Amino acid sequence: MKISALLLFCLLHLVCGKLVTKPRVCRNCTGKIHTKRELELAKLPLVIDKSQICTRGKRYEFFIIIKSGSFSKRNFTRSTWAKEMKENFNIPILYAIGSPNNKSIQQDILLEEQQYHDLLQFDFLDSYFNLTIKTTSVLVWYDQHCSNNSDYLFYVDDDLLISAEKFVLYMARMNYSDTLEGWFESSGKILRTGIGGVTKENFPIDIVPDYLWGAAVLYPSNIISNKLIKAIYSTKLPIFFRDDVFINGFVADEAKIKRQQMQGLVLYDRTEDRVKDNMIVIDFTTEEHRHRAWNCLKYNRQCNQNLLLTLFKLISGCILTAIILVYCYKIFKSMELFQVLTNHSYVIFYEMKALCQDNINTIMILRRRYCPMVKCRKVKFTIYLILHSKRTYVRLGFFLMIVLVLCYLF
Ligand SMILES: *[C@@H]1O[C@H](CO)[C@@H](O)[C@H](O)[C@H]1NC(C)=O
Ligand SMILES: *[C@@H]1O[C@H](CO)[C@@H](O)[C@H](O)[C@H]1NC(C)=O
Ligand SMILES: *[C@@H]1O[C@H](CO)[C@@H](O)[C@H](O)[C@H]1NC(C)=O
Ligand SMILES: *[C@@H]1O[C@H](CO)[C@@H](O)[C@H](O)[C@H]1NC(C)=O
Ligand SMILES: *[C@@H]1O[C@H](CO)[C@@H](O)[C@H](O)[C@H]1NC(C)=O
Ligand SMILES: *[C@@H]1O[C@H](CO)[C@@H](O)[C@H](O)[C@H]1NC(C)=O
Repeated sequence: MKISALLLFCLLHLVCGKLVTKPRVCRNCTGKIHTKRELELAKLPLVIDKSQICTRGKRYEFFIIIKSGSFSKRNFTRSTWAKEMKENFNIPILYAIGSPNNKSIQQDILLEEQQYHDLLQFDFLDSYFNLTIKTTSVLVWYDQHCSNNSDYLFYVDDDLLISAEKFVLYMARMNYSDTLEGWFESSGKILRTGIGGVTKENFPIDIVPDYLWGAAVLYPSNIISNKLIKAIYSTKLPIFFRDDVFINGFVADEAKIKRQQMQGLVLYDRTEDRVKDNMIVIDFTTEEHRHRAWNCLKYNRQCNQNLLLTLFKLISGCILTAIILVYCYKIFKSMELFQVLTNHSYVIFYEMKALCQDNINTIMILRRRYCPMVKCRKVKFTIYLILHSKRTYVRLGFFLMIVLVLCYLF
């Protein structure tokens, strides 16, 4: 019975997983591990520097560096949240770019710099496989020039949206911390295939520690200067190109730097206008969606476009709930319920708490904390998907199920 239930959940997980994961094909998977020498590229003088931004005595609330590879994303960012951040709150924002292997593009970059004065250009080829070098360069640069001028570096991708007001408030309320914050991914197996994966010969360790996605990470300045950079340069691990897994995972773990979920940071969801209710939205499917989300936030235009998808999610949510209800009713009858519940009662309790708080992030964190086992995680992932759909009556159905189960128990 339990096996069949697990199979069912796995199936659902698979089906639902298909909807959220982007397929990525690996065209050329070599060159994913750097040598120590390559890491020294991060210490080269910059092509376009900005050290003058942090003169002595100048203080900033916090500092933002945007990891960027595309002019159009920078252009959109400059005219939206970054503009508000700069003009309304006086937060410094720089765009970290590498060097192109094409002279005419370098010409464009110089023109862009003349116009906006906000580029930090490093002297190595800008490429997905050079991400760890880029992030290390940013950390080294920040440490050398700006770490005494602000308590935090917020290092983000160029394809997210931030509510400037909310984030400034969030930072103002923050007590000084020694913890990295971002989108928390709990420990799991390392990816062995696809563009982000690495072979066993190149990187023999199977388990990735808890890490933060590269999309948006808040680094306290003293952690950068006193721990992180040293740890990056002294680690004995192979230097893996994925900066998030390597720096925010392996290296941070070795250096005993804490990592946690940032509250108010959510993943983009095509069926909801999440920017309004949250502080930061990451993981947009396309730039088009990011533009729409901004238009929705600022001008109340183009909100909740995808009716079909909303409908699909609604219906699949209901079906999932129904399946779970039927399933629970069956075990309820077969008296195996008690056994299942003693295994999972803590899950249900905390789910319920999270449900009441109506907070997806809480659920994500609980998912990690109370679901160390993979088996259990699958169940929780399905539950998470249902809650995630945020439709009142889907939730009601789910809630009903919990009540039913609890009524039986007590
Ligand atoms: C793959 O990368 C290697 C080394 O970086 C290079 O020599 C090779 O030409 C590349 N192959 C393709 C198909 O791009
Ligand atoms: C840059 O963004 C502005 C809007 O802020 C837009 O008018 C302009 O066309 C964009 N430029 C390019 C080259 O995309
Ligand atoms: C360099 O980039 C420009 C503009 O993107 C393009 O027209 C040109 O063909 C590129 N040159 C080389 C050598 O790749
Ligand atoms: C990373 O940058 C170095 C230095 O510019 C370059 O030689 C190397 O080809 C780059 N790696 C990739 C994968 O593009
Ligand atoms: C920052 O302050 C520390 C301690 O006072 C000092 O050692 C370091 O040189 C300073 N860094 C910069 C870039 O001024
Ligand atoms: C910050 O510290 C103060 C006093 O120690 C405490 O009252 C407050 O709740 C803390 N705020 C946060 C966000 O932790």
